[in-house]
Amino acid sequence: MRVIAIDGPAGSGKSTVARRLAERLDLPYLDTGAMYRAVAFAALRRGLDPDEAEPVARMARELVIDLDGSGVRVDGVDATVEIRGPEVTRAVSAVAANPSVRAELVRRQRDWVEARGGAVVEGRDIGTVVFPDASFKAYLTARLEVRAGRRHLEVTDTAYETVAADLARRDTTDSARVDSPLLCSDDAVHVDTSDRDVDAIVEELVERLKG
Ligand code: DC
Repeated sequence: MRVIAIDGPAGSGKSTVARRLAERLDLPYLDTGAMYRAVAFAALRRGLDPDEAEPVARMARELVIDLDGSGVRVDGVDATVEIRGPEVTRAVSAVAANPSVRAELVRRQRDWVEARGGAVVEGRDIGTVVFPDASFKAYLTARLEVRAGRRHLEVTDTAYETVAADLARRDTTDSARVDSPLLCSDDAVHVDTSDRDVDAIVEELVERLKG
């Protein structure tokens, strides 16, 4: 089974690169961050406190998350736009730090990929935890101001300083959590995307994959 793991912090360019790589390799693409966002979205809709571990985990186990097609459906509701919004973005780190939620989503990620016979999988712990035996692993990074600049282009209604502060806070939470923190796997190809365009990065990864 061909599994390509793409990890890195928010704004590192991993979604764009992972999507393009999946097209090039004719593999399905799985955005695992969208799964954590789907759980945060559902928790907020039900009025659950994202920090309350047990109720959120119980809900996550029951939740139907559909990532096929172009959008994201959560219990049949189209959540494609809302999962990228500021409320979900604020709540998602707490949800992603919940070990029971992680256990459930990691199991689903493995099932999703196995059912399709391989995929390009994007996240924070793909090469370290979800698929430690992946055929190929890449870890993407970029300088904080570059990552904040990219996010700011996506959320034009929020001030750059707010976006940068939010990103720095998420970096800290994602890297400091006890369960599956954001780490670069020893055997991952490390790519700094700060000053490079997407085409060049995708080409480099395709070349390295052949080698
Ligand atoms: O990549 P993203 O911004 O959509 O990820 C949303 C959140 O989920 C982010 O706080 C990190 C977390 N996440 C994670 O802990 N593990 C993953 N495999 C993917 C995302």
